[in-house]
Amino acid sequence: MEYLFWRNLGIVAAVAIFAWKARGRLGCSQLFDRTHTKWDIRKAVPLERRMVYDNGLGQTPLMGWSGWNFYECTINEKIVYGNMDALVRLDLPSYGYNYVIVDDCWSAYKRDKEGNLRSDKKTFPSGMKALADYAHERGMKFGLYSDAGRMTCKCHRAASEGHEFRDARTFASWGIDYLKYDNCFHKKNRPSHARYPVMSEALNKSGRPIFYAMCEWGEDHPAVWAGKYANSWRTSLDVKDRWPRIELLADDNNLWASYAGPGGWNDPDMLQVGNGRMSLAEYRSHFSIWSIMKAPLIIGCELRTITKEHLEIYKNTEIIAVNQDSLGIQGRKVSRIGQSEVITSCLTLTKLCVTTQVWAGPLSGDRIVMAAWNRGWKRALITINWYDIGLEPSVTASVRDLWKHEDWTQRQKDGFEVEIDSHDCGVYILSNISMVELYFNSGR
Ligand SMILES: *[C@@H]1O[C@H](CO)[C@@H](O)[C@H](O)[C@H]1NC(C)=O
Repeated sequence: MEYLFWRNLGIVAAVAIFAWKARGRLGCSQLFDRTHTKWDIRKAVPLERRMVYDNGLGQTPLMGWSGWNFYECTINEKIVYGNMDALVRLDLPSYGYNYVIVDDCWSAYKRDKEGNLRSDKKTFPSGMKALADYAHERGMKFGLYSDAGRMTCKCHRAASEGHEFRDARTFASWGIDYLKYDNCFHKKNRPSHARYPVMSEALNKSGRPIFYAMCEWGEDHPAVWAGKYANSWRTSLDVKDRWPRIELLADDNNLWASYAGPGGWNDPDMLQVGNGRMSLAEYRSHFSIWSIMKAPLIIGCELRTITKEHLEIYKNTEIIAVNQDSLGIQGRKVSRIGQSEVITSCLTLTKLCVTTQVWAGPLSGDRIVMAAWNRGWKRALITINWYDIGLEPSVTASVRDLWKHEDWTQRQKDGFEVEIDSHDCGVYILSNISMVELYFNSGR
């Protein structure tokens, strides 16, 4: 008994000491620290992009639909035809969503006798050229998937490592306009910067301009070198229809902001809006931050049964215009209140505290887009400071709210405050900005 008493007292004491020591890291006072990155937005001129993959595509981030997030390996041609019809019926191509993409599982396990890729007889009996033709007849583009290894990732179908030139010719002969190129089952000791440029050259040699979307999950930091070889490159893990994953991908993709530009974009993966496991506020945040980051906007839900509310998010023309802005500068996180995102995502305790962020980026026409993103559990007041983007406090600007679709009557000076619901995101454009020399288009 006595032994048990002393042992338990020892455990209690150890926990108490640990909690006392950890209080600085876990307590709310620490979480209220404000962090500024002090990005002077006026100096964010487009990169001299000497290294652009020269196929003329991707002058703005790609927009379209892919069945992957909803169907994964249960995809078939009936679903794809049905969603192409739905895209047209919902008028989505005129909003910019004009690439129809089939991800993993379209191809057969084995190549044909000549060694060419072919479609799965059971699930895609009419063949991929028929689907591409169907898209083209309706004014859309058509995209396919392969892998820089022996087999595709989820479905273990034949893939393109060692067959790059042959497969690129096949894709071109079918009229393919886009290739997503995944990263599974490759030869050992062949890093992605050895494997991905081969397909880049093969697509070029095919003679058909094919948007080249690299998907090596950010393993070899492609943002740094892939501009020369591809039109986009994934920067992180796969997206999920889950809030912590949206936060994680936004934070990862943000690190590479300065490498994005017309012709080559960072890709935090496709959109989950409409798949049902997040709230409307969370989907609004997902769509807002992806748009500001100049990410590809690829609809990832079933369009034949999409709800009105989800469609409304995809059809917010003002947010789409931010994404498709001709300046092509990726917006980024400029300030935050709250502990680092990783901790916010795993530790329930910290979610009780305020966790808010401001993201911003320059737009054409001497305008600035700013987002107030509430990542905490409670409704919060978010302060947008001119200071965070390098503007003088005396500067005034007109403000438009892109989710409420309204202009504010008063011009704002030195910043402004907005109240944002938990997990929601307000997006604002500042225009007619006074007393400031904006260099956005000067090429300096
Ligand atoms: C291939 O590359 C050359 C030079 O880099 C470029 O001029 C040409 O348009 C490219 N062709 C295709 C089909 O992408």
